[in-house]
Amino acid sequence: MNRGKVVIVGAGMVGTSIAYSIMNQSICGEIIIIDINEKKAEGEALDMTHAMEFMNYKTIIKSGKYEDCKDADVIIITASVPMNSTLTDRMALLEKNKSVMKSIVESIMAVGFNGILLVVSNPVDVMTYYAWKLSGLPKEKVIGSGTTLDSARLHYYIARTVDVSPSSVYAFVIGEHGDSEMVAWSTATIGGKDIDNVFKDNKSRIGENPYERFLTEAKNAGWDIFARKGNTSYGIAASVTGILKSILYDENKVYPVSVYLDGEYGVSDVYVSVPTIINNEGAKEIVELHLTSEENEKFKNSCQLLKNKCKEFLQ
Ligand code: LAC
Repeated sequence: MNRGKVVIVGAGMVGTSIAYSIMNQSICGEIIIIDINEKKAEGEALDMTHAMEFMNYKTIIKSGKYEDCKDADVIIITASVPMNSTLTDRMALLEKNKSVMKSIVESIMAVGFNGILLVVSNPVDVMTYYAWKLSGLPKEKVIGSGTTLDSARLHYYIARTVDVSPSSVYAFVIGEHGDSEMVAWSTATIGGKDIDNVFKDNKSRIGENPYERFLTEAKNAGWDIFARKGNTSYGIAASVTGILKSILYDENKVYPVSVYLDGEYGVSDVYVSVPTIINNEGAKEIVELHLTSEENEKFKNSCQLLKNKCKEFLQ
């Protein structure tokens, strides 16, 4: 049974946490880890093979080379210049990660890759746009992990105040995976109840300024983790595993991933996160939320910021 071949480029904390998360959920048949430091990739893959008897299914896991990308179903790009606890702006990685991305995408395309490219490297929206341009792949086949993680963080912070499962909080962080991101509050619900009424009816549990506070918590979460451990890994790994599963299993699940807007939301030529139906074609369909005019303005500002960054750095 071929359950899919996944290549992960980058054997840092993010890439290896993704590999381990995918393996634990037994959602693909083969995982190949590629890193410019071949020994590191070999060591990580070898370590993971020893976990195999405790998994639900066998997953082939090994280090590899770009030739392995030829028949991959999905390639997950996590490679980045090293980060540390002083990082406070994903855009600071742009200049250096640009050349990292260029060499990776050129190597992938040189062997005839024709699957789905899932970009995780930061700044993810700009990097995904760049990867799409370099690859020549159709826009549906190039996706960034985007604000799936920010949305998961938001769900967690809201969920713990009302003691409900994070998966029962339906709310999307959209826009840039970064400081200009926003929450589409007007579309948020818990158990079918709109979030305004949830907040109103649970004042004592929710506390003051919930809209602002929850967004700030979700937005700052990455930096709170960076300041303590110098990277983030498990949250992003689980988010990517969810997106990957929807691709490999043709699930048509909706995730707020970074996708190419081509007129949707009245915006064109930018990669930015909006809810998107994901299946084995990649970004199958963009969900156009009916935003309020205030939300729409915030969203457009976030798109404009990303467009300016792309123009400044990539052209
Ligand atoms: C974060 C990094 C992955 O937000 O951007 O954790």
